[in-house]
Amino acid sequence: MSEPLEFTVTLYPEPVLRRIAEEVTTFDDDLGRTVAAMYHLMFDSQGVGLAAPQVSLRRRILVMNEEGDKEKPELNITLINPRIVERTGDKALMEEGCLSFPSIFAEIARPENCVVEAMDVEGQPLRLELTGFISRVLQHEYDHLEGVLLVDRMSPADRVRNKVALEEMIEDYKEQRAQV
Ligand code: CO
Repeated sequence: MSEPLEFTVTLYPEPVLRRIAEEVTTFDDDLGRTVAAMYHLMFDSQGVGLAAPQVSLRRRILVMNEEGDKEKPELNITLINPRIVERTGDKALMEEGCLSFPSIFAEIARPENCVVEAMDVEGQPLRLELTGFISRVLQHEYDHLEGVLLVDRMSPADRVRNKVALEEMIEDYKEQRAQV
């Protein structure tokens, strides 16, 4: 038996967060282990969603659980190669956080509903019509696959409010790189 995978959250401004993730083409044990490790990290971090670039993998994989509750696996949604095929409804504002920006929160405007087509971890096609909070989570996580981050979507006011915290993240990153 192979060792279980263990991931840590990749933090801004690590460049992998800016890269466009690539389609998954092989639905094998390795994919299953990757997905399991992503759920483990997401629950451990008290997140409600996690995208593969956040564990430094450039692959189109998302995991979500709208309550962030590992005791409710029935809420788990695993999406491989997701495509948002429809966004409808008024744009609503809601405060979002991101595991890759632990100290940043910003009000982000997104359409209320979306339809996503994807494959499950076995490669079976699925189509979900999402609304409300989980629709927002999906749109946030989907952005990660395109290299789009919270900071790109925040209002000028939020940008000012979070300026120092963002600069600190960049400084921490530079310091860490210097030590390697
Ligand atoms: Co995020």
